[in-house]
Amino acid sequence: MGLTPVHFFSHGSTMMLGEESTSADYWRKCGDEALAQGIKGVVIMGAHWACHGDGIQVATNPNPGKSPVAYVHPSKYVDYKLNPDLATSHRCIDLLNQAGFKASGNDTFEWIHDVYLILIRMFPNACPPTTLVSSNARYDPHYHLKVGSTLRQLRRENYLIIGTGGAVHNLYRNRWAPMLRFRDNFAMETPPEDWALEFRQAVEDVMVKCSGGPKMRRAMTRLMKHPEYRDAHATDDHFMAALFVAGAVGEWEDEGSKVVLGAETWELTNMCNSQFTIGEWNKLG
Ligand SMILES: [Fe+2]
Repeated sequence: MGLTPVHFFSHGSTMMLGEESTSADYWRKCGDEALAQGIKGVVIMGAHWACHGDGIQVATNPNPGKSPVAYVHPSKYVDYKLNPDLATSHRCIDLLNQAGFKASGNDTFEWIHDVYLILIRMFPNACPPTTLVSSNARYDPHYHLKVGSTLRQLRRENYLIIGTGGAVHNLYRNRWAPMLRFRDNFAMETPPEDWALEFRQAVEDVMVKCSGGPKMRRAMTRLMKHPEYRDAHATDDHFMAALFVAGAVGEWEDEGSKVVLGAETWELTNMCNSQFTIGEWNKLG
């Protein structure tokens, strides 16, 4: 068994769940490939669930509800059955605690669209067994790298690791009017602003030119010191999944991994939803 690829997906606005886009096509393609490879399950970190203090949690609610979303018809998500992988969730808690984290289960957490939007788009017919890992609200890049590097070993067992956040994701700088007035999340009355274009390019450069390995870990943490970072991310929550992914592909063994920018969808003028895959199927580790 080789090392499975790892995805960093930018989930964008809630409307990405209901509207067609090249990103949605790419998510589906990645889902189809994963099913064809017989994945054991998905291990996913999102952007909307962060634990306070030093802790990190793993979802252990056997029958989680879904937090409702605006601007999406309920038929697109209400009946989709989530499939929490409780055995792997408990295993992840153990792995994280062995690595020095304060990890625990959360048996009441309801899943949020950052995660179920991606699962529905990738696996519309049935959700594979899924382990949902929280982030930590201190938003320390090195902490989230280490979460990824701790769970990296699951790639060797045919688990699919996904981080769902955003490449350029600043809700305060989005132009919301066309979505609010016309339900048009893809309207672009002007080009994106320079800071968004700059940071989007910086993310692509780190992803594609570093090609996995320790270099990518360093470069991804350094992006949080990029002059345009704070414009691109008014809050750090949507960037932690990128650090998690960098940790999951950050060993020497990962150096030279194939990296694909599989799709990219701009929304709300200034939000860049880039979709990256690091690694490939059937590569021996
Ligand atoms: Fe989000």
